[in-house]
Amino acid sequence: MATFITGANRGLGLEFARVFAAEGLDVVATCRDPSRAEALKELGFAYSTLSIEPLDLTSDDSISNLASHLAEQSISIDLLISNAGILENEAYGDWSRKRFAGTFHTNVIGPALLAQELDHVLTGGAKIVQLSSGLGSLEWGGEGMSDGDSYSMSKAALNMLTVRLARSFESSDRVVVSMSPGWVATDMGGAGADLSVEESVSKMVGTIESLTRADTGRFIDNRGNSIPW
Ligand SMILES: NC(=O)c1ccc[n+]([C@@H]2O[C@H](COP(=O)([O-])OP(=O)(O)OC[C@H]3O[C@@H](n4cnc5c(N)ncnc54)[C@H](OP(=O)(O)O)[C@@H]3O)[C@@H](O)[C@H]2O)c1
Repeated sequence: MATFITGANRGLGLEFARVFAAEGLDVVATCRDPSRAEALKELGFAYSTLSIEPLDLTSDDSISNLASHLAEQSISIDLLISNAGILENEAYGDWSRKRFAGTFHTNVIGPALLAQELDHVLTGGAKIVQLSSGLGSLEWGGEGMSDGDSYSMSKAALNMLTVRLARSFESSDRVVVSMSPGWVATDMGGAGADLSVEESVSKMVGTIESLTRADTGRFIDNRGNSIPW
């Protein structure tokens, strides 16, 4: 059994990899370019249970090659952390098809195709955690960020992916949730954020470990409290 993490070379993904490897779990830590993932490679030296694999969510071949590789190695995934994402700043007036498409390819279509390609290596009771954001809440209307329109739209779509996957997994014991990490000091969140990477991931790991089948299809914060859709 292994934990599979996307975008594990920096930010929240790197800390997820560190925490789960430190717990002694087998971790498949993925990133776009392993040759440049220095911090992740350091983790790989420190923890023999952590393997590093290439994965670019915008490439169908990259996704299917990795899924095939895992199947060949008889690796089963019991926790998929769909963490990788991008945030493009584009206020109304600067919108472009290219930016919207780029954001959706990484934040929505990539996670959807990844879940589908990994289906045969996901265990019957696997947990799938999709890193979403309060900015994806329709009720909150993207409050707190004036120029992240494609990002907010993509996280709302990712939330629907969570609901649709939960439906697809109705006859299994799989649990799929959208989880907001809070506002975290990463390259994406910026230095002035509320939470350190360690604080956010520590809360999220506690919540992930206590998820049950009753949670499937939910949109939750890092403590497991519901966020309005
Ligand atoms: N930080 C926050 O305050 C915050 C708040 C709400 C939600 N989130 C969500 O939490 C998740 C992690 O955010 P973060 O703050 O850790 O972001 P980050 O520091 O910017 O890291 C983003 C990660 O995603 C990877 N990535 C980008 N495009 C990719 C692609 N096409 N294929 C595979 N990996 C790709 C990046 O890899 P490269 O190094 O190759 O670019 C990097 O590892 C994201 O989904 C984000 O939307 C963050």
